[in-house]
Parts: sequence; C-alpha cells; structure tokens
Amino acid sequence: MVFFRSVAVLSKLRSRLAQQSTSLASARWFQTQSAADLDLHSQLKDLIPEQQERLKKLKAENGKVQLGNITVDMVIGGMRGMTGLLWETSLLDPDEGIRFRGLSIPECQKLLPAASPGGEPLPEGLLWLLLTGKVPSKEQVDALSKELHSRSKVPDNVYKAINALPATAHPMTQFTTGVMALQVESEFQKAYDKGLSKSKFWEPTYEDSMNLIARVPVVASFIYRRIYKEGQIIPADRSLDYGANFSHMLGYDDPKMLELMRLYVTIHSDHEGGNVSAHTAHLVASALSDPYLSFAAALNGLAGPLHGLANQEVLLWIKSVVEECGENITTEQLKDYVWKTLNSGKVVPGYGHGVLRKTDPRYTCQREFALKHLPDDPLFQLVSMLYEVVPPILTQLGKVKNPWPNVDAHSGVLLNHFGLSEARYYTVLFGVSRSIGISSQLIWDRALGLPLERPKSVTMEWLENYCKKAA
Ligand SMILES: CC(C)(COP(=O)(O)OP(=O)(O)OC[C@H]1O[C@@H](n2cnc3c(N)ncnc32)[C@H](O)[C@@H]1OP(=O)(O)O)[C@@H](O)C(=O)NCCC(=O)NCCS
Repeated sequence: MVFFRSVAVLSKLRSRLAQQSTSLASARWFQTQSAADLDLHSQLKDLIPEQQERLKKLKAENGKVQLGNITVDMVIGGMRGMTGLLWETSLLDPDEGIRFRGLSIPECQKLLPAASPGGEPLPEGLLWLLLTGKVPSKEQVDALSKELHSRSKVPDNVYKAINALPATAHPMTQFTTGVMALQVESEFQKAYDKGLSKSKFWEPTYEDSMNLIARVPVVASFIYRRIYKEGQIIPADRSLDYGANFSHMLGYDDPKMLELMRLYVTIHSDHEGGNVSAHTAHLVASALSDPYLSFAAALNGLAGPLHGLANQEVLLWIKSVVEECGENITTEQLKDYVWKTLNSGKVVPGYGHGVLRKTDPRYTCQREFALKHLPDDPLFQLVSMLYEVVPPILTQLGKVKNPWPNVDAHSGVLLNHFGLSEARYYTVLFGVSRSIGISSQLIWDRALGLPLERPKSVTMEWLENYCKKAA
C-alpha cells in the first residue's frame, strides 16, 4: 500500500545483510542506518509501541485517579479549567506560556536548527519535535524539507474548487474550500474503505498529515496571489525550506521576511488541545474523519474573531487608530481610542486569553524580532504604546481575567512592515502553521488509539434539579 514507507523496511533488511557481510557492506550499513535516522516515519514507527505501552500502563494503574471537581460554572462557562483532553504535542502554562514537547519558545529558538547560525527555527524542526519529542539535527530537518517538497503537488481540482468561489470570498472561506478539495486524495479514507486494522490507522493518517502540511502553503499562496496579485502564481523554489518557500510563493523574498515566516509558522503551530481549532480537529478526527476533514473543521473555528481571526482584527484596528488620530498619536489619545472601542461594545483585539494570565511568549518573541529588525517602524511603535496603555484599562474594567497581549497583537505589524499588508489574509497564515501542530497530534491520536470523543451534556433543568438535591 502507498502509505507503507519502503525506506524503513529496506533499511532494516539492508542493515541485517550488511551486518553479515564484508567491510564494504559495513559502509553500506552505515549509510542505510543514516537513511532511517533521517526518515521521520521510521523514527515514529520505533516510538509508537513504547508510547502505546505507556498509555496502557497509565490507564491500568491510574485510570480512577480524580483530576479535580467539575463545577456548574465550568459547565456553563465554556469548560474553562476543566481538564478533559489528552494532547501530547504541547502544554500551556497560564503564566509561562506554551511549551512544545517541553521546550519553551526561547528554548526552541536556541535548540531547533535554523537556516543560518543564530537564525529563527525552521518549522520542519518543530514538526519533527512535535511528532517525536526529540530535537532533530540539521540533516534530519533538511531531509524533512525535501520530503515535504516531494509531497507538495496540489491536484487541479483544488484550484478549480477555489476558482468556483468569487475572489471577494473571505480568504479563510477559500482556504477551507481548498483543504476540502484536497480531501479527495485521502489515503486514510481509501485504506479505511478497504478495511484496515486499528493498529495501522496511524500510517495513512501520517500520509495524509504529511501531504496536508506539504500542500497547504501551495494552496494558501495560490489564494493570496488570486485575490491580491491578479492571479500571478509564483512556483515553489525547492531549494528553500518550508517557511522560506511559503514566503517566496506569496511573493516576499526579503531575507528578513523569510526569517519572519520561519518564526511565524513555528510559533503559531500548536497551543495545546483545548483551543477552538485544535479541539475541533481532535473531536472531528475522533469520529475517524480523515486529517483533511478534521483540519478543514479546525479552520472554520480558526476563522472566528475570538480565535484566529483576531490577527486580522488587530491590524485593521491599529490602522483605524492611525486613520483617526494620525501617526504621532499621544498616550492620552490612544487611551481615549481604547475606551471608545470598549464603549462601543467591542473587544480590544489581541488582548486577553482563555488560559494565559501573563504576556504571551509568542508576543514577546515577535516583539524581540521587531526590536532587532524594524525598531523604527511607526506601527511597531504604536504596538509598543498599546502594550503600555491597554493592560491598565482592561484591568480597570474589573472583569477581564488576562489584560495582557496575546500572539495576535503583534503579528500584523511585522507582516505589514515587509509589504504583506492585506489583513483579511492573515488568518490563512495562522492556518498554514496550525496544520503542523494539529496534524502531529492527529497522528498520535490514531497511534494511541484514542476513542470517539463524547462528553456528557445536560440541560438547565437538570442542573437546577442537581443543585437543589446537592444543597
Ligand atoms: C481571547 C478571549 C476570547 C478570551 O475570552 P475569555 O476566556 O472569556 O476571557 P475572560 O474570562 O477574561 O472574559 C471575561 C470578560 O472580559 C471580556 N474581555 C476579555 N478580553 C477582552 C478584551 N481584549 N477586550 C475587551 N473585553 C475583554 C470578555 O468579553 C468577558 O466579558 P463579558 O463577561 O461581558 O462577556 C478574550 O480575551 C477576547 O475576546 N480577546 C480579544 C480577541 C482576541 O484577541 N482573541 C485572540 C485570542 S488568542
């Protein structure tokens, strides 16, 4: 079957032969060991049995251990603080922010391979880390880059499906349509229809996930060029890594923009499992819907203004500040504008979070990028002013649990600086990055045999009666 990777099988066979043979063959053994080391699928295949055992043991020995109480507030309050999901690839601490397989963002910036020494992490490295829990070597990352290029061909039906929409359709609508059109090539669906044992579910999920990750930048840049650049498509440059090639296909080749895109794709990839897009994908995939169906569902959640669309809203809002008050805005004027926004019933986009209670480290690393590469950009200076002005005002409201900026408060001004100024498109960039985190977890969902998700719901009447009895 297509999804069985010949490399792993071949390398094992060759290695056995080589061990029995001459010194010349020993050299071949070394090469083939390296080939398996460089192959992400082989690495996963080795890892999965031990993680399956780990989960089995956890369930057998601790299945009845209580994780906390569920309150009525949690049930009617969007399940805040309710621990209810298994998500291996990342974990969010309210104060410290996200850790990808245990590594904070600064640690990822230090440890993951970069295009050049001291540069931003390559998203392929993050993908490797999320899937295996191990920091890859530069050679492993380069091999993965090549693999993603080799999987990146997008079938014609995808372009046709997108072109069937008016160019005025929101970029996220076009993106979800493109992902749904990619689904016709799902290996998981084909394999499942033929009949496949549960222990093998992860293999075609891996194939779909890697194909999806490889293809979404092509689809996303097609949409960008279609809407904003008169349909002039820029072909992929196979000499470039994932993030740089994405930026190139969008039409942005400034080396600093390539670095920004590597950082952007890395930090937006995953934010544990409970956020709307990640949770949606996990839920939909639990019905054994394939990765394309699951990811398209996630994108529809990402397109909401309280989630991924906030990055669009932030830049539009910042531009509206400049339009109304000019670029040399004073602190007092800015405070008035924030109050005006709040008094009109709107939220201040880019501030607040469902889980975080401090400044988002994804904001901080973007701020550091700006300080290094665009310190004099007027919109960056406005973003810095907002960092001073907004938190005290939100605190004054008395109800906002986290007055600090999140990831979306910063990304727009960076992209805008390098010419990517079309704010309505920004959530698509977020979506491309999310394909990495979401797909990594979906592979583990199937490898660990996680079941159909089906929490219990109740009515208000049920809650009232329960509380009466409990009183
Ligand atoms: C992210 C967000 C949806 C989290 O929601 P949450 O978990 O319900 O947040 P809280 O518990 O702090 O909300 C309590 C109240 O403060 C309000 N609040 C939270 N953040 C706010 C903000 N940035 N501006 C104005 N009001 C805000 C909420 O709307 C809510 O008001 P309500 O009780 O009248 O409905 C919320 O902070 C928000 O809307 N932020 C702006 C949009 C954004 O940046 N989204 C991207 C998130 S990564």
